[in-house]
Amino acid sequence: MKIIICNDYAEMSAKAAEIVRDAVSGKKACLGLATGSTPEGMYDLLSSMCKKGECDFSGITTFNLDEYYPISPDDPQSYRYYMNKRFFDKINIDINSTFIPDGLAADPGIECSEYEKKIAERGGIDLQIIGIGPNGHIGFNEPDEELIPLTHVTNLASSTVEANSRFFASPDEVPKQALTMGIKTILSAGRIIVLASGSAKHKALSKMLDGKISTMCPVTMVNLHRNVTLICDKEAYYGR
Ligand code: PGA
Repeated sequence: MKIIICNDYAEMSAKAAEIVRDAVSGKKACLGLATGSTPEGMYDLLSSMCKKGECDFSGITTFNLDEYYPISPDDPQSYRYYMNKRFFDKINIDINSTFIPDGLAADPGIECSEYEKKIAERGGIDLQIIGIGPNGHIGFNEPDEELIPLTHVTNLASSTVEANSRFFASPDEVPKQALTMGIKTILSAGRIIVLASGSAKHKALSKMLDGKISTMCPVTMVNLHRNVTLICDKEAYYGR
């Protein structure tokens, strides 16, 4: 694993944005994207690079890791809304080439298998960005005795509902389920970039850096992949 330890969040975001810029410009690449607070800085930088003509998303397809279920794409807390407002509306990407599981799918099981098909039809994901939950989750693959390989419907861990309730009026409003890429979906990407900022991520990051794998800390599964870059800040790496 390649490890890049940055002084702070801004530097982490800049390094991540550079890697994405180099992976997309003038290419027909397929990007796997994440939501949450961690990639916001990276999206802002990529949006301004794109505005200045330093980055080109015209040939790019994207697949997001996950979406709450049920949730409307128009709901400001949905990941579709987040991606459109924070990123897709600000770059030169064809919105029809951006994929996020449908939080209103009538049959979520079918939606998940269709999602896998769409990824396969587009030749798989070249570069996957992932964040880490404080409990070590990736996408919404929560710590458990068993993990599911492909895109599936999942229940959110109560700690995740609590962590994500900061975006909602109250914890009761956080959807309790989600559609998420599975561990195999994530590990099938050509390259994985793990982003982590802040001391809340230190415990999960340390487990990953131990090099062992455990279903009880899903981010450790990236140790099975041969092309992973960790970009984190000092707080996440060293704790405090
Ligand atoms: P965060 O979420 O970036 O908001 O910390 C990461 C995650 O839960 O995967």
